[in-house]
Amino acid sequence: MTAKILSADPAGIVAAAAALKAGRLVAFPTETVYGLGADATDNAAVAAIFAAKKRPNFNPLIVHIGDWAMAERLAHFDDRARLLAERNWPGPLTLVLPRRPDSAVSLLASAGLDTLALRMPRHVIAAALLKAFGGPIAAPSANPSGRLSPTTAAHVAQSLGGELAAILDGGPTEIGVESTIVDLSGARARLLRPGGLSVEEIEGLIGPLAPADEAAGIRAPGMLSSHYAPERPLRLNVAEAREDEALLAFGPKPLHGAKASLNLSATGDLNEAAANFFAFLRRLDESGAQAIAVMPIPETGLGRAINDRLRRAAAPRAPR
Ligand code: TXA
Ligand code: MG
Repeated sequence: MTAKILSADPAGIVAAAAALKAGRLVAFPTETVYGLGADATDNAAVAAIFAAKKRPNFNPLIVHIGDWAMAERLAHFDDRARLLAERNWPGPLTLVLPRRPDSAVSLLASAGLDTLALRMPRHVIAAALLKAFGGPIAAPSANPSGRLSPTTAAHVAQSLGGELAAILDGGPTEIGVESTIVDLSGARARLLRPGGLSVEEIEGLIGPLAPADEAAGIRAPGMLSSHYAPERPLRLNVAEAREDEALLAFGPKPLHGAKASLNLSATGDLNEAAANFFAFLRRLDESGAQAIAVMPIPETGLGRAINDRLRRAAAPRAPR
């Protein structure tokens, strides 16, 4: 199956928005690169992004918003964030901000973090799609993991065509590199990724940016301090659960005997498991159990990303 390339006329935009509402994936142009979009509030649709990209781990995704009101419902803007957004949105700037507790964005989209990466794209087709859809769209670059980012609809069709409901064709993208990412979730503003907006432009507004690698307290390789790790210790690949433990189960034969239990997927569906993963881990962490026991999860498809995240969460931690 190959995705339908839609011309970005009003009928194409309406069809693409309907596909997003139905939980499907739609690729669309932005001024930087083409994005692989899904309804950011739908865990299962976001899991489908990771499956399509064949990502071996759950990187948090950028959440695209169409207007200021939508942005403020999802994250908290301080004065620095407001100034940067007012001067540069819509445009190639992504802001990492504290997530509002009642934010509708899927926990999988932000990889369980307490922060959200938000961006308001300025491409007319991206803006029209966001308006027609009426909600936030999670969208990484529309390429398989480890491959080059796509700057034409044909690039997307070649590498991901079979995974998508539609590709909106907007011709070649204008900027060709991803957005600049600035982390404003802490006291010091940090540059997480250089990109389409110059650092000079940003520093002219809010002063010097700290480099990303100064991020304090990296607890496990590849794990930023802001990453959510459960408070309770994790035991992985368990064959039995104890009475004082909470159980993260998987598959048709969940273990018994735990104090609390949630099954990632009773049918053994790894996409469903990924969709439930961060939300369930949080609930079990708050269940009052001494530890969280986790049943074995197959090392295939999104199971690899789930296991990667579990191993990081179970790794010894430096004191906070
Ligand atoms: O230009 C772009 O930004 C493109 C177009 C499609 O908009 N999008 C894009 O998205 O590059 P993506 O999902 O590939 O970028 C994800 C990166 C992550 O690897 C991470 O570095 C950062 O954004 N990120 C996302 N959420 C974050 C968070 N809560 N905290 C820290 N970094 C975050
Ligand atoms: Mg990318």
